Amino acid sequence: ERDQGKFLRLVIFGKPGAGKGTLSARLVKKYDIEPLSTGDLLRQHIAERTEIGQQAEEIVAQGKLLPDDVMLKIVASKLDNIRTKHWILDGFPRTVGQGKLLDAHLSKQGTPLSLVINLDVPDDVILSRISDRWVHLPSGRVYNNSYNPPKVDGFDDETGEPLTKRPDDSPEIFARRLTQFYASTSPLVAYYTKAAQKPMRLPPAHHHQHPHQLVFPPAHRLLLNTLSGTTSDEIWPQLDGVVRSSFPALKERTDVRH
Ligand code: AP5
Repeated sequence: ERDQGKFLRLVIFGKPGAGKGTLSARLVKKYDIEPLSTGDLLRQHIAERTEIGQQAEEIVAQGKLLPDDVMLKIVASKLDNIRTKHWILDGFPRTVGQGKLLDAHLSKQGTPLSLVINLDVPDDVILSRISDRWVHLPSGRVYNNSYNPPKVDGFDDETGEPLTKRPDDSPEIFARRLTQFYASTSPLVAYYTKAAQKPMRLPPAHHHQHPHQLVFPPAHRLLLNTLSGTTSDEIWPQLDGVVRSSFPALKERTDVRH
């Protein structure tokens, strides 16, 4: 059974601090979508001191990237768990190599990417945001003193636990993450631009009642959308509009979710 086109497969992509985490949290709050953030996942591994966490700690602290095969291993099993859900992936892929690994994995699953959102925010804007960023490590919730401050200064809204600074948010390390983005991650824009130009075809499946008959799934086209802006007031309505129009079947949540 092929599930092509049935589930939203969204990759949100952009510089460190562009707002990937913040905007995907907004989408997840509004729609029935499962979030997966590799940055949050790695920070949990580091906090729990798992084998991957021990390997990741120094690499993340230095603003470098983990190897592609390690990342795929972490991501693939998580994606398999949410195979029959809409999902949004934040922080992966981060290299063209990871992009190819992801495509291969999804093509095996029969659910190719539907939408890639490229967040385009100027460097000077994100530099000032990062110095104002505070995080609640266990949940991945992100605050900003000027944009979305916590209700009580220095404490998480939901749990009341103290907020911390990310160790990789110092000015020197952040500069290195930005350089790493230009070198390794920005080539993915060309990769997805090319993919968005040609329709993808998956191999045919066998007909339910007539196993000798082959069923060809309809060609599927990936959508790449660049959203530019400096504030949430500019980007959020654009993002919501693109997601709605490219995936009209998406349902708004009826439950309250934080
Ligand atoms: P990761 O956590 O993914 O870091 P990143 O890409 O550097 O992204 P950030 O989390 O810094 O920023 P964001 O875009 O989510 O912005 P946010 O919403 O917080 O990865 C960390 C590390 O893990 C990597 O450096 C690497 O070492 C490793 N890693 C992860 N994935 C990997 C992979 N696939 N391969 C190899 N290694 C990997 O927003 C930033 C600030 O701005 C906040 O304060 C927020 O409140 C504010 N803000 C957000 N949006 C707006 C807005 N629209 N208007 C005004 N303010 C805003």
